[in-house]
Amino acid sequence: MVKFILNGEAVETDSTKNLLNFLRDDLNIKSVKDGCSSGACGTCSVLVDGVSKRACILKVPRLDGKHILTIEGLSEREKSVYSFCFAKAGAVQCGFCIPGMVISAKALLDVNVNPSLDEIKKALKGNICRCTGYVKIFDAVIMCAKYFRENIEIEWDDDRALIADDIIRPDAIEKTLAKSVYVDDIVIPGMVYAKAIRTKYPRAKVLDINIKKAKSHPDLIKVILAQDIPGVNKCGHIVKDWDVLIKKGDITRYVGDSVALVVGQKKETLNEICDLIDVSYEELTPLENPVQAMKSDAPKIHENGNILTIQHMKRGKDVDVVIANSKHVVKKHYSTPFTEHAFMEPETAIAFMDNDTVRLYTASQNVFDEQREIAPVLGIPKEKVMIKAMTVGGGFGGKEDMSVQHHAALAAFLTGRCVNVKLTRKESLLIHPKRHAMEIQMTVSCDENGKLTAIKAEIIADTGAYASLGGPVLQRACTHAAGPYNYQNADIKGTAVYTNNVPAGAFRGFGVTQSAFAIESSINLLAEMVGMNDFEFRLLNAIRPGQILPNGQIADESTAYVECLETLAPYYKKHKSVGLAGALKNTGLGVGVPDAGRCIISVENGIVHIRSGAARVGQGLDVVLLKIACQTLNIEPSKIVIKQPNTARTPNSGTTTASRQTVFTGEAVRVACEKLIEDKREKSISDMEGYEYLAEYSFDSDPITSTKKNPVSHVAYGYAAQMVVLDDSGKIEKVYAAHDVGNVISKTACEGQIEGGVIMGLGYALTEDFKYVACVPTATYAKLGLFRADMTPDIDVFLIEKNKSSKIAYGAKGIGEIATIPTAPATALAYYKLDGMFRQSLPLKNTAYKK
Ligand code: FES
Ligand code: FES
Repeated sequence: MVKFILNGEAVETDSTKNLLNFLRDDLNIKSVKDGCSSGACGTCSVLVDGVSKRACILKVPRLDGKHILTIEGLSEREKSVYSFCFAKAGAVQCGFCIPGMVISAKALLDVNVNPSLDEIKKALKGNICRCTGYVKIFDAVIMCAKYFRENIEIEWDDDRALIADDIIRPDAIEKTLAKSVYVDDIVIPGMVYAKAIRTKYPRAKVLDINIKKAKSHPDLIKVILAQDIPGVNKCGHIVKDWDVLIKKGDITRYVGDSVALVVGQKKETLNEICDLIDVSYEELTPLENPVQAMKSDAPKIHENGNILTIQHMKRGKDVDVVIANSKHVVKKHYSTPFTEHAFMEPETAIAFMDNDTVRLYTASQNVFDEQREIAPVLGIPKEKVMIKAMTVGGGFGGKEDMSVQHHAALAAFLTGRCVNVKLTRKESLLIHPKRHAMEIQMTVSCDENGKLTAIKAEIIADTGAYASLGGPVLQRACTHAAGPYNYQNADIKGTAVYTNNVPAGAFRGFGVTQSAFAIESSINLLAEMVGMNDFEFRLLNAIRPGQILPNGQIADESTAYVECLETLAPYYKKHKSVGLAGALKNTGLGVGVPDAGRCIISVENGIVHIRSGAARVGQGLDVVLLKIACQTLNIEPSKIVIKQPNTARTPNSGTTTASRQTVFTGEAVRVACEKLIEDKREKSISDMEGYEYLAEYSFDSDPITSTKKNPVSHVAYGYAAQMVVLDDSGKIEKVYAAHDVGNVISKTACEGQIEGGVIMGLGYALTEDFKYVACVPTATYAKLGLFRADMTPDIDVFLIEKNKSSKIAYGAKGIGEIATIPTAPATALAYYKLDGMFRQSLPLKNTAYKK
């Protein structure tokens, strides 16, 4: 028997579990989160005798006599200081890492209440945050220290939330105190567990699936095979090419393919049952890259061959002629790697039957996409699949596809049980789509004065085993390949190719992270040839209002790339090894794809309820919608609640992708509030009980095939310029990020998006890689190369507001994606200036981060 003190109470147990599972499963302590189960992420941090430790690698029998503390055991004063300061500093986005961060911060502040920034970074280096870029977490810890040191009383000042006010996010307090409910925190009596058996080989024929031995296991409920699927055995966000389960006789396409779904009584014995299922395969040689997959004699991964899509964007004169007649030409090849989202919360879904309706709790980027994909698998109308979103522990594009949701629904539908399907971090890495690896051949030219004349590019994207969002990603890579510059001759061709790698799909930047690395790097060489510095070259060619973007769209009055560059001018002059890069990124789906934001607002018990299907994945949509509503209705925030997406009650507001929700759902909320105001007149909100308003905002863009001279591809573009400064040892000393964001709705949330995007961009530039050996990923969470607190440089953010008069969502533009785009090329240029080595692939080689 082991005895220890947990949060001041004596615990006696003979459990042999690890502390994480013991706390979560046996004691229902949910502040300790399971981000990796392998000691690599810090989400499970607890204090053991005052020292921050990772509960997932501590065995309960070794804790005899120890004092253990979790968030639940903090004093009331500590709870209010940590939650207030983390919220006030804007340190909380998805929140999944935050309880662990607080524990590590407490370990420091309990012994040093006046820490330096370096001491804070060191104390937090074991805790990964994928959202915030750490900057505001450092601010929060500094603020906590001051509050403790000076015994400052907490004063809440959130009685106003107009656009101009910088209020705290409505979800920040409960996330800090671990009161937000993520799917895996849900406990339902009688809940059982399911797990998919994945193929042993990326490409293999499934010869047999023998479940005889498994049937004798006392905890087995059911083994589900492809033939048990009542509807279609396919899903897919756009192209229905992804098998729910691979059936006997079929050929697998990647190591994440499932051949059977095992439903068992207990989480603890699920692996045992899986091990009793014998699957025999005929191993086949996988197609490891697009070159192999495009060979004429390559085996077909899908019926229609190995090409998912070809995109061709051509404007202006014959580029070969223009390039031949241009004074300066740069022709280069660039390579970018697969990268992993590494959101902190691994995928989990819970499903159960409610009469003939399947109900699910999920954490995705759109509950309506899940409904649309799951219903055909079950062979039932989509109204019979009801989905409620729980708190989402980060997405970044990696939670747009089916991973666990369809399996949970299928298991519940076929067994009638309440079923939890949760991926281990190892499975998560193997299964969900990654950022595309791309090979980019690019030729760019300019005249003797440095004016850009033409671009010709060919992009080959490895889209892996299934389509996911490979088509739109490739299209954005192509449409943005010319960068935020004013030249009219472009010929850009892209091909997305199926291989036996993990599928590639949406990831923050959506294809533009890749093509921006190519164009921004080439521009540096052109500037050099002309004899200009790269700053002047960019300024000379920068797109300005009224000019025509390389895709034909006329840049509108809000276009502020020049302002972004000019903001950075003084700092460019100040530093030596400084790399600059620019970017543009669309807001919204655009290119003729139907795109609408919707919401319902209703008055219930004197409170305005805002309901929208727009997923909040940590990006701060709650605070945006709250402020838009407060501004429009002129009421205090305590009179408004924002409800989670729920297919039963919230209208479909599209996927949280393409930096679209602030504009699309934000505008829908504004319109709905205006409708309410119209009726309100002399009434007070409490006189309007039961009033309800549905509003929609949609934007009709021109399709990519439009023959218009100046098609309008997107409702808006955001622009950015970032500068990366190296110290003499080659470490990143500072990053400056100037972003054209339209009107700022929430300054803190906007800065947080940019800081998080920059750190993600630095990882992409320097340390992150998702490698394979023969189509089998070799990465572990610890080896992904994610930036940690102690690697974080200073980041200065500048928000450029040029569109304040626009009515649409009060003039906001999207910020989520563009924040990551210019960082890698800016970093590459900084190293080029430091050591003269022009690097054409990511992550950059021979840096202080990677020798
Ligand atoms: S869950 Fe323990 S360190 Fe990641
Ligand atoms: S807030 Fe840190 S991982 Fe999301």
